[in-house]
Amino acid sequence: MTELPDTDSLFEADGPILQAEEQAARLFHAQRTLFSAGGCTLCLQAMLRLALPQGGKILAGRVIHRSTVNAMALLDIVPVWLYPEQDAGIGLPGRISPHKVEKALTEQPDIKAVYLTSPDYFGVCSDIGAICRVAHAHGVPVLVDNAHGTHLGLLQGVMDGVDHPLALGADLTACSAHKTLPVLTGGAFLNIGDTPLAKRDRYSERAKEAMALFGSTSPNYMTMASLEQAADWVQREGKSAFQKLVKRMEPLWDQCNQKHLPLPLGPRDKSRLSFCTLPAGLTGEQAAQRLRHEGVEPEYADGGWVVCILTPQNTEEDLEKLYRAISLLPDGDPGFTGQKAVLPPLPPAPLSPRQAILQESERVPLEKAVGRIAAVAACPCPPGVPVVMPGERITKKVTEFLYSYGFSFIEVLQ
Ligand SMILES: Cc1ncc(COP(=O)(O)O)c(C=O)c1O
Repeated sequence: MTELPDTDSLFEADGPILQAEEQAARLFHAQRTLFSAGGCTLCLQAMLRLALPQGGKILAGRVIHRSTVNAMALLDIVPVWLYPEQDAGIGLPGRISPHKVEKALTEQPDIKAVYLTSPDYFGVCSDIGAICRVAHAHGVPVLVDNAHGTHLGLLQGVMDGVDHPLALGADLTACSAHKTLPVLTGGAFLNIGDTPLAKRDRYSERAKEAMALFGSTSPNYMTMASLEQAADWVQREGKSAFQKLVKRMEPLWDQCNQKHLPLPLGPRDKSRLSFCTLPAGLTGEQAAQRLRHEGVEPEYADGGWVVCILTPQNTEEDLEKLYRAISLLPDGDPGFTGQKAVLPPLPPAPLSPRQAILQESERVPLEKAVGRIAAVAACPCPPGVPVVMPGERITKKVTEFLYSYGFSFIEVLQ
């Protein structure tokens, strides 16, 4: 397939693609929804372009996908970083505090937008509603990397504080539909909220142009068709299928709790099973290896956690296999409290991401890195929070932290 009168053209849609996008917008209660066959990455790029067409400062949660930092470099956007609160459990990055957003926006009135990732990889959700209220009171839009939460509206009512970020007031959301809905790889939605700020800044009128700035002129029609089909599936049975999935998962949570393998604390996506393996004396990677032996491939594992993404398309047999695999892990120590990572203070940033990312770099041993400027992010997991970002000056505290997590080299500017 290619762009023909009957098949429409993604960036000048006025036929079947537009109709399919309008159907999806009704599902999300969005002012407008746009299809992407270039993943969530294309949606993130377009969100930044819409909110900061002339570049400038953005207040951003430090737990952020590298595609966003790269997009900041392309668009000459300068981040003002916020560390999360580490309130979600041992070794998890945690949530962005509305109070800290308020403080930063008051102290730096030239910040043009707030950007955060929610849910995070572990399914932990920040308080988007409260953050939107704070940001909107300052006349600033809220952009949410909702890569892992396209389906969250289908879990409405399952847990307080968990819903699609658009329903909680976000102005723009980037949703990686292919991660949690039956969509081919690369299929994603850019959603524009029905909010006063989105209307003020004419996001709906400008959105296709913003997508076209970064997207391929040959988007994959199979991927787009799968987005249309998934929207249809969501409309027909998505909510009951996801709510049933959560019920089907209850024995898995009970088992993790009984074995003292803690789940994240506070509001989270309950269709995702993330559990901490440290109380059982295993790293997440070691536990993942044991799950693999039992025929279960986790989505992700790090030094302390295992993440399994379940979908309504998983069969009973899949869930039983996962149940059995977890039952074979050693029991955790009920008294295990772990240690909260004490992150080094945010380093000074003499250069912007653009100035750093577009320069030549070299790899040096950590002991030679103090005082040099980082070319890439360095992010020990857990806690999954970068301690240095491109353009920041590497401090002694940063190198000490990285040493303690087993790092020995880092990429710096030449
Ligand atoms: C939080 C987050 N944002 C953005 C992306 C990029 O999404 P995509 O691969 O759909 O471009 C990812 C991919 O894993 C992600 O985890």
